[in-house]
Amino acid sequence: MKRQRVIAWLSISCGILLCAIGPFARSHAQSQNATSQNSQGAGTAPVSDEASGKHAAQEPKSAGQRAAGQKLAEEQFKNIQALKGIPADQLIPAMQFISASLGVECDFCHVHEKMDSDDKKPKKTARQMITMMLDIDKNNFDGRLEVTCYTCHRGAAMPVSIPAIRDEEVAGPGAPGKKPVENPVLPKPEELLDKYLAAVGGAAAVEKITSRVQKGKLMAFGGQSFPAEVYSKAPDKRVSVMHLKDGDSVTAFDGKRGWLSVPGRPAHMMSASENDSARLDADLHFPVRVKTLYPKYKVDSGEKTGGHDTFLVMGYEEGRPPLRLYFDTQTGLLLRLMRYAQSPVGLNPTQIDYADYREADGVKVPFRWTVSRPGNHFTIQVEEMKQNVPVDDAKFAAPPPAQPATPPGPGQKPQ
Ligand code: HEC
Ligand code: HEC
Repeated sequence: MKRQRVIAWLSISCGILLCAIGPFARSHAQSQNATSQNSQGAGTAPVSDEASGKHAAQEPKSAGQRAAGQKLAEEQFKNIQALKGIPADQLIPAMQFISASLGVECDFCHVHEKMDSDDKKPKKTARQMITMMLDIDKNNFDGRLEVTCYTCHRGAAMPVSIPAIRDEEVAGPGAPGKKPVENPVLPKPEELLDKYLAAVGGAAAVEKITSRVQKGKLMAFGGQSFPAEVYSKAPDKRVSVMHLKDGDSVTAFDGKRGWLSVPGRPAHMMSASENDSARLDADLHFPVRVKTLYPKYKVDSGEKTGGHDTFLVMGYEEGRPPLRLYFDTQTGLLLRLMRYAQSPVGLNPTQIDYADYREADGVKVPFRWTVSRPGNHFTIQVEEMKQNVPVDDAKFAAPPPAQPATPPGPGQKPQ
């Protein structure tokens, strides 16, 4: 049963490793994370396209990166009405956003292997809702995605319309509830980014690392674990290989383009916004380069992360989803990174929690990280690591597309 759902997912191109491996054990904590995301980053996507009257919810930047001749959703899929005009590769991110906002799986709206069918009532309702939502944003917020599915649904299929009576109010004043938040004096963003760089060993030490090979295990699927390897090469090549039961699941970035493959399926080349995330993950000198990733940074007090107090450094730029970095107030190390991928109906959040920092060759490297998205997460625990060893570039190259009717000749060139 569960497996079938996974396969249904895999049969459709979807994002980054996580969705390539996840049966989607729901994690409510994750849905809650989307709250802050909505308020912080929702203003980044213009929705209306005056000329055509269609929505072009792409941020201008990604739209610019769109490959010429790229298909629209209605050209690639069979039954698109409400989302006409969006690039085809934005359809699945939109579906991920919708599922996360309502706290449901794809089959809440879709008939298995007949995604174009309108047999399920919630799908028809959802279509009306998409139109309603885009209208609200167009008529009230200049087309910015301020009101999204999540604004009303908050992780539930049925929104709540009546204010709740909270426990504190019943218990009366003085009951243990939310502590008033003090307004501490916050350090400057540059100070925190410098402290982070120093904490991991400093620029010279970080830049001396030219490659990194990590072996360990992936923990997911409710307690299952699989052998995993991650190869990185400066400046920004990276491939992670998970040895699943049926074969290898691979997520890679070759310095220009990301791709992923899962057992029994052709490799999926990443879309523009997936590429941006993959490049970020692949940056071997991230602590040095982080300062240059966004033109502006600001600081806030962050939530407790892995039991540690944090400062939040947020990178932001008009027309681009923000980046949120949570640094340990004591050690200065990066404990959490949150990034967002644009979709036509809202931003899809990814959270990476770093832990088990160990020193090797003069730099501190996290030996454990947990990648979470609404409804699913997995953890990588590194058991053994080598740095500055030769890594063949071929490791990062995408396999040639599986085409049964390839003309005779060099299907595979060396290199
Ligand atoms: C709350 C309802 C809902 C959920 C949950 C949902 N979808 Fe959809 N899906 C829709 C609607 C509505 C459309 C049609 C959009 C339109 O008319 O523009 C659609 C269209 C699609 C299509 C295009 C089908 C075609 O050929 O016309 C695909 C593929 C798809 N969804 C995949 C998914 C996947 C994968 C998931 C789970 C991540 C998912 N959907 C979750 C409502 C939903
Ligand atoms: C302005 C608030 C609001 C927004 C925004 C909103 N919804 Fe809804 N939605 C509702 C309300 C209220 C209901 C319940 C209506 C009822 O009781 O019949 C509902 C019901 C639904 C249902 C039916 C649930 C069921 O169990 O049958 C679906 C599916 C749905 N919404 C999908 C979406 C999607 C997808 C989005 C984003 C594209 C969205 N909604 C955005 C308010 C909203």
